[in-house]
Order: sequence, then structure tokens, then C-alpha cells
Amino acid sequence: MARILSGIQPSGVLTLGNYIGALKNFVKLQNEHECLFMVVDLHAITVPQDRLALRKNIKELAALYVACGIDPQKSILFVQSEVPAHAELSWILTCNASMGELSRMTQFKDKSAKQESVGGHISAGLFSYPVLMAADVILYDVDMVPVGDDQKQHMELTRDLAERFNARFGETFKVPEVYIPEQGARIMSLQEPEKKMSKSDDNSKNIILLTDPPNTIRKKIKSAITDSETTIAYDPVNRKGISNLLEIYAVITGEPIDALVTKYEGKGYGDFKSDLAEVVVAEIEPIQQRQQEILASGEIDDILDAGRDAAMKMAVRKISKVKHKVGLGRKR
Ligand code: AMP
Ligand code: TRP
Repeated sequence: MARILSGIQPSGVLTLGNYIGALKNFVKLQNEHECLFMVVDLHAITVPQDRLALRKNIKELAALYVACGIDPQKSILFVQSEVPAHAELSWILTCNASMGELSRMTQFKDKSAKQESVGGHISAGLFSYPVLMAADVILYDVDMVPVGDDQKQHMELTRDLAERFNARFGETFKVPEVYIPEQGARIMSLQEPEKKMSKSDDNSKNIILLTDPPNTIRKKIKSAITDSETTIAYDPVNRKGISNLLEIYAVITGEPIDALVTKYEGKGYGDFKSDLAEVVVAEIEPIQQRQQEILASGEIDDILDAGRDAAMKMAVRKISKVKHKVGLGRKR
């Protein structure tokens, strides 16, 4: 049994990409491993957030985890900012990270360009964001971190920072592995399948939100871009649109892509898309209902209190060890 940890930002409504690339996997992993899942609110404030919206998003995301199948009896579910050791370790690691390595992070380049384009300022937090992510992970001696493809580079940095600290101050942290799912690690935009489906996309037709009503989901899938071919085939290089739809279908139903291609032999895009729309609706609609029930019952606060206490116990031990190794504070 390995120890697994991952996190999602409470910065708005999640997409089908987040569900397939992250949440759906987490649920599978919790049956075989010791898991910690976070609502990473400290990451969310690297770009401006409305205070009340953030508060709301934190609880909604926590309820979504549970609605998707994260079982608080099996996994530790908590809010990052409620365990102060994350911010403490992040600072210590920041002092051992270089400007150069952080400048090379492609997500920083993308996100800072986006902030600039809307006339917003680029916070130093956005720059050091991957260091906070590294702290989240190594604080708990995690073996494996399941994330989508876009987080690969951040995980390489996490490993570098853990190794550097160990080399400098003596063996302290486990060096974690990244776990990228074979299928569904990069769900693409519906209208522009050369870019990933992202919750910050301005064109709502590009993305399926986990809050979209069934008819909106059906409409968006039916108008998804395919190509001028007539067969349903998987070719993610030359036929990105249809391949993305096939991948969504396969991951949700568990049917292999080959079997789907055979199943739709001789059928057109219209038939395939109607079936896919029903597959997605059948998966998402019950999750939406459960999320509302969990929020209405108030149980999420008890779950998050227990998760915070459990995470805190582990984190406090580690951060005291780290401070001691670095020479911080006093000894008497
Ligand atoms: P974020 O929304 O950036 O907090 O991401 C939460 C998780 O969802 C991370 O593990 C991402 O890698 C994953 N993710 C985000 N977008 C996609 C996508 N289009 N396809 C697959 N996984 C994704
Ligand atoms: N940076 C991740 C994202 O944007 C979220 C995240 C924060 C995370 N801390 C983490 C993921 C620790 C895995 C482990 O998707």
C-alpha cells in the first residue's frame, strides 16, 4: 500500500477534464492506497479571488470530492490553509529553490501571460506556486501523486527540491513519483481540440462544466468539432476532435477504445455523439445531486474538521523535524 496525495484548486467550477484526469482516478486509488486529498485554497489566491466566492468554492469542491466517491472513512480530505505547515514548509523550500528553475515552469508562463492580457498584476505567489505544491506533497512522505498531464513539470520540480533538501540537510523527505493516468490525462477542448479543456476558457462551448445541466451537456457534445471524415476512428495526431470524444467515452464507461471503434463501425458522428452525451449525463447528473445533498446536510464541515486533524498530526511532526535540520528557532 502506497501513500497518495493530490489537490485541486477551489477557483471556480470544475470541468469534465478535471473529473476525468483527476477526480475519477482518485476514487479508484483510494481502495488500494492510503490517500490524502486537498482543497488547495492557498494555491487559488495566486490570482485574485473574491473572498465570498472563494469561501463558497472551498466547501463546494470538498462536497464534490465526496459526491464523486471519495470516502472520508478511507481517505483524509482537508483544506490546505487549515494546516499551517504547508505555508511554513513552502517558505523554507522557497529559500532553496532558484529563480531560474521557477522561470522555466510553463504553467507560470501561460498564467502570467493571461494575467497580463487582462491587465492584472502578476503576483510573486504565482511565480512560487510550484514550491507550495512541492511542500504539499513532501510534507507527508507521499509515494505517488496522481495528476493530469499539465502538472508533470511541477512534479519534476518537487522531486528536485526534495532531493536537494536531503542532500543539503540530511535524509528528510521521501522523493515522490508522479502518476499520470494512461487515458484521460489530457482532455481537450470541444471546439479547439488542439488545446486542453480548461476551466478558465472564455468560450463556454469549449468546456463541459460539472455544473452544466443535462441539456447543456447534450448541446455542447453535439456541437463538438470533429472533421470531414466519415468513420469513427482513434488517431489523436491527425483527428484530434473525434479522438478526444472517444477518449472521454472510454474513460467513463471503461470500454476500451478499440471496442468502441468496432461498435460504431458503419455509424456516423451523429449517432456516436448522441450516445456519448447520454454517457456523460448519466455519469455527471447523480454527482450533481449528491453534491447538493451533501452541502444541504452540513456534514461536509465535520468531514473537513476530521481531515484537518488527521493531516495536522502528520504535518506537525514533519515540520518540526525540518526546522530542526535547518537550524530555525531555538533549542533549550
Ligand atoms: P486544477 O483545475 O488546475 O486545480 O487541476 C486539478 C486537476 O485536474 C489536476 O490534476 C490537473 O492536472 C487535472 N486537469 C485539469 N485539466 C485537465 C484536462 N483537460 N484533462 C485532464 N486532466 C486535467
Ligand atoms: N497545482 C495543482 C493544479 O493546479 C494543484 C495542486 C496543489 C496539487 N498542490 C498539489 C496537485 C499537490 C497534487 C499534489 O492542478
